Amino acid sequence: MEASPTGDAPDLTFRALRQRIRQQEILAELGVTALQGADFDKLLAETSRLSAEALRAEFCKVLEHIPSENRLLVRAGVGWDEGIVGKASIGADLASPAGFALRTGKPVISNHLENEERFRTPEMLAQHGIHRAMNVILQGDGRPFGVLEVDSRSEDEFVEHDLAFLQGAANILGMAIERERHGRNLQAALDRHQVLLKEMGHRVKNSLMIVTSMLQLQARDIGDPALTLHLEEAAHRVSAVARAHDQLFQGADIERLDLGKYVEGICKDLDDSVAHCVIQTEVQYEIEISADRAISAALVVNELIANAAKHAYRGRQGGKILVAIAGAGDDKISISVRDEGTGLPQGFDLARPKGLGMRIVTSFVEQLNGTLEVRPHNPGTEFVIILPR
Ligand SMILES: Nc1ncnc2c1ncn2[C@@H]1O[C@H](COP(=O)(O)OP(=O)(O)OP(=O)(O)O)[C@@H](O)[C@H]1O
Ligand SMILES: [Mg+2]
Repeated sequence: MEASPTGDAPDLTFRALRQRIRQQEILAELGVTALQGADFDKLLAETSRLSAEALRAEFCKVLEHIPSENRLLVRAGVGWDEGIVGKASIGADLASPAGFALRTGKPVISNHLENEERFRTPEMLAQHGIHRAMNVILQGDGRPFGVLEVDSRSEDEFVEHDLAFLQGAANILGMAIERERHGRNLQAALDRHQVLLKEMGHRVKNSLMIVTSMLQLQARDIGDPALTLHLEEAAHRVSAVARAHDQLFQGADIERLDLGKYVEGICKDLDDSVAHCVIQTEVQYEIEISADRAISAALVVNELIANAAKHAYRGRQGGKILVAIAGAGDDKISISVRDEGTGLPQGFDLARPKGLGMRIVTSFVEQLNGTLEVRPHNPGTEFVIILPR
């Protein structure tokens, strides 16, 4: 077409060209936002806003298909009266241009909704005085997510170029939708994994409790006081491990334990079995350490309590055993087990442990990269273990 002498046509072309360039820019902008992994709802809102701007339309919306209700929910949008975005929906059948796009899978331009024969004009569009609409399908992962729609009141017309832009925006959004679904599936798989882990922890604990009961039964039936004692001690060692698994599956974190709470529980268990002694605890909560380390630390405490009950108060009425756990500085934990008994025998040498108990203590403290110190008191003995966090 020739340019008119008044210059109208070149002006029009220039305007159209500027709009195409702006559309290109907006597609690039959207692409970057999507690639940066923007929050999904924000991305939907941003796509609506930018698509409306690029097409010089007053309205735009992202419709999400809800198959169970056969409806399209307005998930995000611009230009709409209050109470529409996030709430209103339209039928996903041929009663709307969006439903038509979803059903046929084809983009739809309708510049004269009032003359349309392919579908009816939904109430929502009529109420807003909308004359023309353009719809493209939003692909998801497998099934379509929904429809991207721009609407306008003005008498202007949407053209093929506009449709190409809208399709471009929908493709970008489609990629983000796919990624969001993948993310959600991954989270679901992770959640299931956690549940299974907890279930495993629960079962391990049950199995260990069975072992504990068997040892206790045998301890009762064996008819030899020395062997009874050994078997009871073995039962306590196993039950200290069982308790760790119990606590692991109760807590939010499957890998870490609140050391104070855990050891407190073990002391309660032991308190019942060392009837002649009272075990007092002074523990600081929220010192979290890995389950493996917590189990080793608890076995150490278990041995030290057993020793205090067995040796410190030998031949006496009984007495107090104090277990304390606290943070020491920023990066250390202090664990102390103290009795008010006879004190250690002459010749007691930490470096040359005689019994199994002290061997367990020294080797676990070493494994934990900790230090063990014996502090004689009057009366009694205190064992202090310092561990790195
Ligand atoms: N709190 C304590 N008070 C007095 N003596 C203790 C105390 N702790 C340990 N001992 C002494 O240290 C020795 C070594 O303890 P260890 O736990 O290694 O062996 P055990 O208790 O005799 O046997 P096991 O622990 O193998 O059943 C004990 O026999 C006891 O003489
Ligand atoms: Mg011992």
